[in-house]
Amino acid sequence: MKLVSPSLLSADFTHLGSDIAMLNQSECDWLHVDVMDGLFVPNISFGQPIVRHIKTCSTKPLDVHLMIMDPGRYVEDFRQAGADILTVHYEACTHLDRVVHSIRDHGMKAGVALNPHTSVMLLQDIIAECDLVLLMSVNPGFGGQKFIENTYKKVQQLCELCCQQNPHCLIEVDGGVNPQNAAQLYAAGADVLVAGNAVFKSENPQQTIHDLKQ
Ligand code: DX5
Ligand code: ZN
Repeated sequence: MKLVSPSLLSADFTHLGSDIAMLNQSECDWLHVDVMDGLFVPNISFGQPIVRHIKTCSTKPLDVHLMIMDPGRYVEDFRQAGADILTVHYEACTHLDRVVHSIRDHGMKAGVALNPHTSVMLLQDIIAECDLVLLMSVNPGFGGQKFIENTYKKVQQLCELCCQQNPHCLIEVDGGVNPQNAAQLYAAGADVLVAGNAVFKSENPQQTIHDLKQ
């Protein structure tokens, strides 16, 4: 699959409504929403009230990426705010199996995210329960960082693991993605590409989204 999920973290927050309207008219598949708590990652972004407003403007599914400690506390809140896909970090959950089931029980697709240093092999006992795995290709917390090349290898490893245990699981890559590395990521086995700066800092964001899907 070749899906594109533009990250709103790089949008113009003073004109969020018009940026979302532009994405509604684009070929993007999902809208990537980065929630940060200043604890799991050094940065703070926004919480459920903003997600709720984004939901009222967006015609695309909300792909919510929680970069927060102990995210199981907020599954219900983000469902009510309008999340369609809810992704939590492997490193932020003591009881990941419980959190993944809770997300599914709330009617959302469940994603598990891995930091760049976290091995794909650690997913062996949870992959069967996942709808999606998000591989961070930068250290999470900020947009506009440089893509970590080791990610290609991780995508391939994850692809093999999914083939063996859960062929329906989607592979998402997040951080430093652009039209230059997109083809190689899809070739390695990625299904969903997140792009923040590459989309919003480009001259023609809709064209860049189109290019990312090629
Ligand atoms: C980073 C976030 C990303 C970020 C990607 O911690 O998870 O979604 O917005 O931005 P770019 O594409 O600019 O690296
Ligand atoms: Zn993200």
